[in-house]
Amino acid sequence: MTGKALAWVAVIVTIALLAIGSVSAVEKDSGTLRGIPPGTVADYLHAVIMAHRTFYTIHIVNRLLQEGILDTSENWRATNTLPLPVQFLKETSEMAELTGAKVRYHLISQWPINKANAPATEFERRGLEAVQMHPDGPYTGIIGRGKEQFFGAVYADRAVTQVCIGCHNSHPNSPKSDFKIDDVMGGLVIIFPLNP
Ligand code: HEC
Repeated sequence: MTGKALAWVAVIVTIALLAIGSVSAVEKDSGTLRGIPPGTVADYLHAVIMAHRTFYTIHIVNRLLQEGILDTSENWRATNTLPLPVQFLKETSEMAELTGAKVRYHLISQWPINKANAPATEFERRGLEAVQMHPDGPYTGIIGRGKEQFFGAVYADRAVTQVCIGCHNSHPNSPKSDFKIDDVMGGLVIIFPLNP
């Protein structure tokens, strides 16, 4: 073979190798697209839920309370008041479920103002203990309910602003009155089915 012919063979082999490389890269990519791990789905949901919760608390509740424009109360529907941040979360979870997406989320705590928000299952109890010790990541697990299997994640719910601790520390039904800024006040539980 001449030098020129050899150079052409080298070019063709290189192109073929590059083509094989890119085909397998596409396969790898579409492989990951086929199934996002449930822990990642929970992280995405958590990011959106917490962004709304934090924005509502800081820029709506905090602001309107400070400026004395509106008050908040448990009885917000009947009175001219704002829903509490926990009620905002509860109402939006119920609305999300109404769309048919079987995702639910709620707040729990070891020091609940409302006893109904105490951990109700072994999974929730363990989740709260875990996020108290390691607040930077979620506690996750598979929860079996009959034939259906659910993915559950508990994330730390922190006192992100003064208004969180001001309200909880002074609430007559709160079993704890010394929350500080950035404390883990409870947990956000997110649950969705593994086989929707
Ligand atoms: C204006 C008062 C008020 C503010 C502000 C407030 N909360 Fe609450 N929070 C409550 C009340 C009252 C409940 C119980 C309501 C119910 O379920 O009936 C509650 C419920 C909770 C719960 C569930 C456990 C429990 O205590 O019943 C957590 C966790 C929680 N709040 C954390 C926070 C965090 C974190 C913030 C700030 C981002 C915050 N709260 C802001 C009054 C407040």
